Amino acid sequence: MLEIEHLVTGYGGVPVLHDVSLKLGAGELVGLLGANNAGKTTLINNLSGIFTPMSGRILFEGQDVTRLTARQRVELGIVQVPEGRMVFPEMSVRENLLLGGINQRAKPHRAQQMEHVLELFPRLRERLGQKAGTLSGGEQQMLAIGRALMAEARLLMLDEPSLGLSPLFVQYIFGIIDRLHKEGLTILLVEQNLNLTLRHAQRCYVLERGRIAVEGSSDVVKNDPRTRSAYLGL
Ligand SMILES: Nc1ncnc2c1ncn2[C@@H]1O[C@H](COP(=O)(O)OP(=O)(O)O)[C@@H](O)[C@H]1O
Ligand SMILES: [Mg+2]
Repeated sequence: MLEIEHLVTGYGGVPVLHDVSLKLGAGELVGLLGANNAGKTTLINNLSGIFTPMSGRILFEGQDVTRLTARQRVELGIVQVPEGRMVFPEMSVRENLLLGGINQRAKPHRAQQMEHVLELFPRLRERLGQKAGTLSGGEQQMLAIGRALMAEARLLMLDEPSLGLSPLFVQYIFGIIDRLHKEGLTILLVEQNLNLTLRHAQRCYVLERGRIAVEGSSDVVKNDPRTRSAYLGL
């Protein structure tokens, strides 16, 4: 479904990712691991079209999307749940969700999709009229995921969904990720949390200072000594 070929990208002409290649099959739940500053968010922002790579290609279902705008990519179903949730704090939960479903492909089914999201997150139903900024961190993460689902994501990219959440909320959010995966959604899970991601993803890539250091099934990645060293920066 997604193929990244020899991606080089960075800021102000200085590369941060060096020759990154990665593949995701339809329906897979793949983890992208790495320590702080490894380049995980940079990669996800290049996939969603916030940034454009210096070289390399991004193919989505065989189509070259490397130079498409973020908006065009959302129309194809490439949707990001950004690091730090980025909900619109002054808008209500309902307004945040409706805004998620504003693209042409999703708009005709917004009511139906809203029902799916609210069934997935009953907490959000209780808070539909509440300003998003008044929600707890865990609830904001639910809203950020709900908003991406409203866009009818076909490839859902989650950037550190566990960040700053209490263990109970982390467990809940990962339960939701598992459920979405079982429903057939293709998911790229970007995380610093190694053990948690290894438990939920089928395959993982470990990014170390802008390069893929380890890749394979979660079992292989777990037992590869380079995985730990990528984290410790050895
Ligand atoms: N907007 C930016 N401008 C310049 N450098 C950046 C920017 N965003 C990230 N970087 C740098 O790129 C590297 C990778 O950062 P990032 O992709 O955020 O890593 P991660 O998400 O794995 O923590 C870091 O060295 C960071 O300082
Ligand atoms: Mg990041």
